[in-house]
Amino acid sequence: MQPRRPEGSKSYFCFASAFVACLAVTVACSNPPAVAEAPTVLADAADIHSFARPAEARVTHVALDLNADMQAHALRGTAMLTLQRRPGATELVLDTRDLDIEKVADSGGAALEHTLGDADPIKGRPLTIKLSGRDGPIAITYKTRPTAAALQWLAPEQTAGKRQPYLFSQGEAILTRTWIPTQDSPGIRQTYSAKITVPAPLRAVMSAEHVSAPAAASSGERTFEFRMTNPVPPYLIALAIGDIADKAIGTRTAVYTEPSALDRASSEFVDLERMVEAAERLVGSYRWGRYDLLVLPPSFPFGGMENPRLTFATPTVIAGDRSLVSLVAHELAHSWSGNLVTNATWSDFWLNEGITTYVEARIMEEVYGKERADMLRVLGRRDLDADVVRLGGPAARDTILHIDLAGRDPDEGSTDIPYEKGSLFLQTIEAAVGRERFDPFLRSYFDRHAFQSITSAVFLDDVRKNLVAGDAELERRLQLDEWVYKPGVPSNAVVVTSPALDRVEAQAKSFAGGAAAKSLGASSWSTQEWQHFLENLPAKLAPAQLQDLDRAYRLTDSGNSEILFSWLRIAIRNNYRPAMPALERFLTSQGRRKFLRPLYEDLMKQDWGQADARRIYAKARPTYHTVSTSTLDQIVK
Ligand code: BES
Ligand code: ZN
Repeated sequence: MQPRRPEGSKSYFCFASAFVACLAVTVACSNPPAVAEAPTVLADAADIHSFARPAEARVTHVALDLNADMQAHALRGTAMLTLQRRPGATELVLDTRDLDIEKVADSGGAALEHTLGDADPIKGRPLTIKLSGRDGPIAITYKTRPTAAALQWLAPEQTAGKRQPYLFSQGEAILTRTWIPTQDSPGIRQTYSAKITVPAPLRAVMSAEHVSAPAAASSGERTFEFRMTNPVPPYLIALAIGDIADKAIGTRTAVYTEPSALDRASSEFVDLERMVEAAERLVGSYRWGRYDLLVLPPSFPFGGMENPRLTFATPTVIAGDRSLVSLVAHELAHSWSGNLVTNATWSDFWLNEGITTYVEARIMEEVYGKERADMLRVLGRRDLDADVVRLGGPAARDTILHIDLAGRDPDEGSTDIPYEKGSLFLQTIEAAVGRERFDPFLRSYFDRHAFQSITSAVFLDDVRKNLVAGDAELERRLQLDEWVYKPGVPSNAVVVTSPALDRVEAQAKSFAGGAAAKSLGASSWSTQEWQHFLENLPAKLAPAQLQDLDRAYRLTDSGNSEILFSWLRIAIRNNYRPAMPALERFLTSQGRRKFLRPLYEDLMKQDWGQADARRIYAKARPTYHTVSTSTLDQIVK
């Protein structure tokens, strides 16, 4: 029998044991206990990263009325929470971190007694509110702190236009509690509405439908109104404020960004509508109305964030040749895996990211062909193998899909494992049953769990019921429990190949062996071929080889962030001085953690590099998001 994780909260353990026991005896048991309720009940009790006690009182809707003070770096106003209460419920427990609570009142305006508990370094502070007899929403008047981890306030100089300030939020994984007092668990879905008042001429956008033309609040201010009528986990509530313009791509797709960057951005993402259409053919209708893309200022710490109706993206994906748009396919895929069917806890994060990475490649295959998709799959497999090594080898606990996060920040689970091992798991199932069976299964999986938050156990149960369907030979071949609950990469993993990348690998060998850069004929290589070539070079190269490669293909001047990143890592390893100004420029002009972390790590490993790392970091740190600085502070000491 598979070992289900016994750690976690007590109630989770009890429930999980009962659930497993029940599964085990279902066949023999004449009167099996009901397990149909499992997903919601389990999600209620299982999240170790939330103080909420949703079984007593659960937030079902959040209505925000906030004023953005772009000078003081604060959001001020009220959150009205609609609740579902157990009869006789006496307390409501919310998650908060760094929030200043001014007042809590019931629907009649009567003040409610409340306490902020002790601060936990990861979870923040529980806000416990004594409920009065009166039904109806609870109003919390509050203010965010300038240090709120979810919010990055940018000075005008940090934007493309350089004239207006900017604000954006980043909720995933447990940061929404730093700007909204609510039950911040992915298992507690909430609809929301918002009135956001900003100084003119700024504009507010959210992960929601924009319901009204901006109303003038008072002189010099504008109020924007939004609503999200689908229940979403709180980490998907997102806001951006700035000098933002938009340009339509298709009838339900548009690109949003600062006016001076709009043309370049919208031409990069011309395929947006086609991607949505391709995704719909694969996984069923798009249920969120519009799919728009907001390109943020360069300090955005992630590649992309799948905020519903409005994906947030880094400008570093704009390469000028559309070669990095798989990021959009990825965030779009989250409209099904993640936003429609959500990981119930952060230990189930692979359900969001692994299924999304699988669907991302399928969308890319549909829109750009199999060759490109297979390159992405091979690059993913390479990243997976490298991360298994980094995490301690195939027996390391953190290579388990259903990761143990007890006492840890969910951020620690954000490795290549959930993404690439998760995707490989789905590729393996697909290969075992064939697309003619797998595709309808996947589509129906999203339908069966639409607008629910589910655990890994529920996923496996669903695969067993609807795909394996009693086929003992298939069950044995799939090794389902091994994939989800055991470390390493199971022996049945499908092998992905890309002839194009095989050729490039051979060329990396010949270049390492002394061939001239020009003889590689690399001018026509795609970004993915370049990435693979650079990652396959030996750690040490002769100065003449580096110079030859750089002169032939101008890598130091590359405007492609992925190629430049891979090249800069090589440059640091080999102390290739001509690339150092470009390295400094790259580290000071964008804040994407995926690029920053390895580059600073590489620098710190070099005797000559530590002083540079500290100097550049001291200069750039104020421009980085806390998501990035909280990682980098550990590296650049
Ligand atoms: N949902 C993630 C971003 C995220 C993960 C934010 C965990 C906070 C905690 C998003 O969909 C994502 O995976 N972004 C990737 C890009 C993608 C193409 C792999 C990124 O930002 O690098
Ligand atoms: Zn993702």
